[in-house]
Amino acid sequence: MKRPVTLTINGASRTVEVEPRALLVHVLRDDLNLTGTHIGCDTSQCGACTVLLDDDAVKSCTVLAVQADGHAITTIEGIGTAERLHPLQTAFWEKHGLQCGFCTPGVIMCAVDLLSRIADPSEAEIRHAIEGNLCRCTGYQNIVTAIQSAAAAMRAAKAEPRTAAFPSAKPAGQPAGAGV
Ligand code: FES
Ligand code: FES
Repeated sequence: MKRPVTLTINGASRTVEVEPRALLVHVLRDDLNLTGTHIGCDTSQCGACTVLLDDDAVKSCTVLAVQADGHAITTIEGIGTAERLHPLQTAFWEKHGLQCGFCTPGVIMCAVDLLSRIADPSEAEIRHAIEGNLCRCTGYQNIVTAIQSAAAAMRAAKAEPRTAAFPSAKPAGQPAGAGV
């Protein structure tokens, strides 16, 4: 029997009727038409489905929609627009951080989490943060470069408040990466 679940999706409250066994990723894609969140496996390994649950990156195929009831969800659609990209989206474009792009939304959401906790991550910290996100195309180096570039841009924007486009600060949270 379905039950109502209320989520704050990308800043807007939405209530949907879901089966208790429904996974968050399916509700996002099938009920809310947020298809930027991808499904790349059925073993919780690929990270293509990564979203923010409140402030933390999670693999939305590992979360029941009913578990997210009352929480805020941020998807790739919620961080920027075509006219005003998030610095990570700009950096992935400029630094060729993608090829087919299938993994990209998940990687970017993981990086959003990372950069909200660590403004100037080391290469090792970046690689650790995205170790739960599989990319079959890029070899990862350009992804790391893109995240480093976005981090620099976000630090620069923060130093100039009038040009800061996107919020990046949040309270310290759990480490991202394999645990998501
Ligand atoms: S779809 Fe692969 S980890 Fe969620
Ligand atoms: S860009 Fe193709 S899977 Fe990552």
